[in-house]
Amino acid sequence: AYVNGRYQEMRDASVSIEDRGYQFADGVYEVCEVRDGRLVDMPRHLTRLQRSLSELRIALPMPLSSLAVILHEVVRRNRVRFGIVYLQISRGVARRDHGFPLSRVKPSLVVTARTINPAKGAENAARGIKVITVPENRWPRVDIKSTALLPNVLAKQAAREAGAYEAWYVDGDGFVTEGSSSNAWIVTKQGRVVTRPDSSGILSGITRGVLIEALEALQIRFEERPFTPAEAADAAEAFVTAASMIVMPVVAIDGHAIGSGTPGPVARRLREQFHRFAA
Ligand code: PDD
Repeated sequence: AYVNGRYQEMRDASVSIEDRGYQFADGVYEVCEVRDGRLVDMPRHLTRLQRSLSELRIALPMPLSSLAVILHEVVRRNRVRFGIVYLQISRGVARRDHGFPLSRVKPSLVVTARTINPAKGAENAARGIKVITVPENRWPRVDIKSTALLPNVLAKQAAREAGAYEAWYVDGDGFVTEGSSSNAWIVTKQGRVVTRPDSSGILSGITRGVLIEALEALQIRFEERPFTPAEAADAAEAFVTAASMIVMPVVAIDGHAIGSGTPGPVARRLREQFHRFAA
């Protein structure tokens, strides 16, 4: 792990108990896919990181180019060929007080990397995952990739306890916003791929952004609009996207099979094609 200027063994790596990330979840993070030893779409992840930080008025601890060097170095030291790299920046260490520290503190930076057997993702994708719906209960600033994830933790756990893999939030108007750790998509019976606009209610996923470009290139019809759980249940296909899952077919929502109840051709094709369009 990289922690505040040092590369350390994971078991020795630690941050202060007065870190604001620990006490207030006063920080942001990024997760980037590692594929064949390469960091997928890293520039876009770093751009989003910079935006999250600036929305919270946390200083970038070093230039993005230096962050990129550290990300690569942690991946290299862990010999990760397939997996993820995780980066977290908190406002720093200070005596506990809700307001920003009065004296200037240095933001804390932690980077870890982990191998994930690609066969595991392939297995899930071949079977397809189930989702449940839960009421949207997060703050309105979900566009910021903050480490304050308690509603997401509870939603994911609810999914698990229901025998599902992901939970989709449903807003007060009855529309799906996104998953607890992914963006939500459907494919209509007319073959249109649909996902909610990133103007409200969702994190602007990097995988989502790349996929929208891929849809255009593949000449697959695309609509950016909200959809309801009922429309998803009646759709031809559904899937989720995230750096940790790429394109993951969804085969059931709240116990109702979607389409044939198996991964659909569009989701499978997009999963196969995704890395042609990623940087
Ligand atoms: N989560 N929406 C939410 C709430 C997320 O947490 C994520 C990613 C996404 C997809 O974003 P991207 O395509 O940039 O990964 C959407 C990461 C993977 C996580 O928390 O582990």
